[in-house]
Amino acid sequence: MDIFTKIIKMNFDYLKSKVTEIVSNANETVENRLYQICELLEANIPYYDWVGFYFRNGDKEELKLGPYVGEPTDHTIIPFGQGICGQVAVSNKNFVVPDVSAQDNYLACSISVKAEIVVPIFVNGHNIGQIDIDSKTTDPFSDKDERFLEDICEIIGKIL
Ligand code: SME
Repeated sequence: MDIFTKIIKMNFDYLKSKVTEIVSNANETVENRLYQICELLEANIPYYDWVGFYFRNGDKEELKLGPYVGEPTDHTIIPFGQGICGQVAVSNKNFVVPDVSAQDNYLACSISVKAEIVVPIFVNGHNIGQIDIDSKTTDPFSDKDERFLEDICEIIGKIL
């Protein structure tokens, strides 16, 4: 493992332990804990510029914006199938977008966003929501981000 890979791994391992700490703090509401996780990831990973959660809106075939850190977005409700988030609600699979300008089915939040990654959150095998990250850097996400965010979603799933 080269030194660069080691440093990234250390940061991800450290952040995972912090997320576990935040999630375990039953004195805070779930909403606040999710917000703190957004803050943590946005502050510690240079290419995570917008970090937020979307959740299924009751029984409706749509996602509702949850806690987030970053520029406000118009996309507070996203119908299933629409945009990157809406597609993940249907596919149940991670969606990594290295270059958003190459996507047809994409909902733009800000002109400065270049890339996006969305990873679903499962509770008892059901896709109940997702973590969504926007980046101002083109093609910043690797399989390490996917594994990291899958682990984060698994930890978070325990309080949802
Ligand atoms: N770009 C997303 C919409 C949500 S924002 O990134 C906050 C999409 O295409 O679904």
